[in-house]
Amino acid sequence: MGVNRVSEILQVQFPIIEGGMAYVGNGELAAAVSNGGGFGQVAISGRTPEGFEEQIKIAISLTDKPFGVNIPISGYFTYNPYFDVVQKYKNHIHAISLASGDPRPYIPYFKGMGLKVMVLVGSVKHAINAEKAGADIVICEGFEAGGRNSPYELTLFGLVPQISKVVTIPVVAAGGIATGRGVIAAMALGAEGVQMGTRFIATTECQAHDHYKNLLVDAKDDSTVVVERSVGRVSRVLKSPYVNKVIELERKNPAPEELYPFISGQRNRLAALEGNVEEGWIHAGQSVGMITSVIPAAEVIQQIVQEMDEYRESLNHALDLFLNPSGEVRI
Ligand SMILES: Cc1cc2nc3c(=O)[nH]c(=O)nc-3n(C[C@H](O)[C@H](O)[C@H](O)COP(=O)(O)O)c2cc1C
Repeated sequence: MGVNRVSEILQVQFPIIEGGMAYVGNGELAAAVSNGGGFGQVAISGRTPEGFEEQIKIAISLTDKPFGVNIPISGYFTYNPYFDVVQKYKNHIHAISLASGDPRPYIPYFKGMGLKVMVLVGSVKHAINAEKAGADIVICEGFEAGGRNSPYELTLFGLVPQISKVVTIPVVAAGGIATGRGVIAAMALGAEGVQMGTRFIATTECQAHDHYKNLLVDAKDDSTVVVERSVGRVSRVLKSPYVNKVIELERKNPAPEELYPFISGQRNRLAALEGNVEEGWIHAGQSVGMITSVIPAAEVIQQIVQEMDEYRESLNHALDLFLNPSGEVRI
């Protein structure tokens, strides 16, 4: 029997990745995902270099399994202090995922440190560029995803087949996945692994405020909305009176200095870590309607794997019926 390429590259039991998450992608969660057989990641967004290092140390202390880090190349940071932290812990960090801006100059740099490099993409062109620049894996993120999305706003159903057709490196699907059926669907489209964000927030090890986690459990299919389009960004967040206020303000086409205080990272921090959704917003993807409980991250992975296994048989049966091998016309 062969080996799943994503599992092989990341040295994990299951090709299930915890996506980098601003403020809430902490070391304890990364370690829990890795201990559960997936691939956890510590995110830099929302952290100082010292805070980032602290979370890496926590992950190292809690797992001897491979884990990674996530850096969005968005042009807002001075990256060097974060890069120095990655360099310092390069023997513990197995892979890095690069998101947002142009990752090409950084791919050889991190590969030179001996890390595997994953690149988040939201279009065919960017996937091709990532492969050409030496990426090991492309993570194809659809518009369903929580957090900041690609401005192309392409959904996973359109994106995965088109990307997997043109790259030879493995494709991981991200956005809207929270169940075993979702993983099977992603694989049917051409993905060899999945990345989840929102589902891993509703876990006991995630440092998100309990109010955030409970709101995710209560949320439904239509509970998310996109904000920040007026400033050229696409951020999927949970609907709330505060978010409605931001959307109203954006409709009035405000000057950036008028809008910015309402959409700064601090607003996200306040809601995500302090549970203050009256004065800030929380990111969430469309998968939120499938989240029914706050459980350990390892259990999330077990449930997904179990559901995939259980669903296999009924899927085969459904496919047989669909393809109608007997050729009968049944009206
Ligand atoms: C709260 C939150 C914060 C996120 N922050 C980042 C980030 O800092 N860097 C990044 O590459 N992706 C970020 N993402 C995207 C995730 O890594 C992941 O690709 C996405 O959540 C997948 O979609 P899902 O939420 O539907 O599972 C974030 C997502 C969420 C929900």
